[in-house]
Amino acid sequence: MAQLPQFTASPIDLDSIADFDGRVTVFLSETGRLSQLARRVNRLMRGALERFGESDRFAKMSAGDAVEMPFPTGMAAQAVQVIRLERKPSQEQARKAGAAIGKALGGSDTLVLLGNQQLAADIALGCALRAYRYTEMKSEEAPAQGGVTFMASKPEELEADLAAVSAVAEGVCYTRDLVNKPSNILTTTTFAESLSDMSDLGLTVEVLEEDQLEELGMHMLLGVGVGSESPSKVVVMQWTGAPDAKAAPLALIGKGVVFDTGGISLKPAGGMEDMTMDMGGAGTVAGVMRTLALRKARANVVAVVGLVENMPDGKAQRPGDVVTSLKGDTVEVINTDAEGRLVLGDIMWYAQERFSPAGMIDLATLTGAIIVALGHEHAGVFSNDDSFAGSFLKAAAAEGEGAWRMPLGKGYAKLLKSSVADVKNIGGRWGGSVTAAEFLHRFVPEGLPWIHLDIAGVAKPAGATVLAPKGATGWGVMALDRMIREMFDEG
Ligand code: BES
Ligand code: MN
Ligand code: ZN
Repeated sequence: MAQLPQFTASPIDLDSIADFDGRVTVFLSETGRLSQLARRVNRLMRGALERFGESDRFAKMSAGDAVEMPFPTGMAAQAVQVIRLERKPSQEQARKAGAAIGKALGGSDTLVLLGNQQLAADIALGCALRAYRYTEMKSEEAPAQGGVTFMASKPEELEADLAAVSAVAEGVCYTRDLVNKPSNILTTTTFAESLSDMSDLGLTVEVLEEDQLEELGMHMLLGVGVGSESPSKVVVMQWTGAPDAKAAPLALIGKGVVFDTGGISLKPAGGMEDMTMDMGGAGTVAGVMRTLALRKARANVVAVVGLVENMPDGKAQRPGDVVTSLKGDTVEVINTDAEGRLVLGDIMWYAQERFSPAGMIDLATLTGAIIVALGHEHAGVFSNDDSFAGSFLKAAAAEGEGAWRMPLGKGYAKLLKSSVADVKNIGGRWGGSVTAAEFLHRFVPEGLPWIHLDIAGVAKPAGATVLAPKGATGWGVMALDRMIREMFDEG
């Protein structure tokens, strides 16, 4: 697990600033008025900060932008990082400012001169998230990251906030680690082991093996994995934190295809390496469970993830095969590359039968079509319940995680009619994300509020984002954690 930077909150000590020999971060607001801490830095630097604040360069900066003044006169610091930020910024601006600190974090320690800066927790969160690096596969060992000390007027208050920030950041970074791992390292077996290790945090974790899945009748899920040397597994994680341990839980369901070659309906070679992230749904669900356990959420949540590998092989499932799902529906597998829905259908049915949840949310890197529709800015949100969907959209907006409502409808469901079985697994060229969602809809019992999140475009976009370096983003962990907090912890 990638380490978060070590955070400390310390009281204001003006005299310590001159001698601090790491990096110093100071905030400068638009008004040009220097805070008490900025005034001290300015005096040490013989007015350089004030001159900078009056410059055209500063005027052109947006909130959260940073510049670096290396080896400043009058200070022992290696650099003073100046970040433009109002004393009362928006959450987005505060997180962006924090990200500038995190991005620049190297081997040396950083002193962040917060004073009475508002939204300090969001600055810290931005810092933790953007400081993330995936270095496990580099032969050269990554140098230890420097610690971050926040000099604040109310350090005890900040200390408590920092614990909450760490719980969220650890969940997000756990998801990123899982999604960034190559598929020879994160197999169905090592994935299940990593999830099992979370029992140390107080989660109840069960691993269902192939013979048990056979016995249960998850033939739709098992069909996807038969071509692989890695055994298919279903992992069930439970967090029981509500005052009433018997209260109906929220169910989170994740697609965990550790690699998706397409199977016999083989994908083209170009870009196939991206399919290491096809377990992103399961990875996100795992990150949420980690955060819930770390912050001891007062909510009951169960997670079910299907871990399989989709490979072509002499034993692999063929186009045209018909399999029987756990629910009992027969499914004609027209395209073995439409495998995620086959995995999800069985575990969705299992989760609702076993746990009678109050609501169900599935996450999956399900379709290329959702990337055509929404790009990398928004995940697709499909739901049978406007109020449930509304709570999610609100939480996602509050966390700055893009999410956009998409339709469902009988007209789309009709496209899945099969001439030989109850249903087929693809709908045709158009509306591919919606027909995929309608396939899943069959495995949601009447009356159960359900959300399907197609995260194919947001789990691991091609470049860096404000809060994540290039690679996995951990999209959805913060939104789901917030939604759970708002609906269950505080409900
Ligand atoms: N894992 C893919 C979807 C995907 C594509 C995720 C690109 C991330 C980036 C999924 O299993 C898949 O192959 N879907 C097919 C469905 C088609 C065969 C109906 C697709 O989108 O092409
Ligand atoms: Mn596929
Ligand atoms: Zn897939």
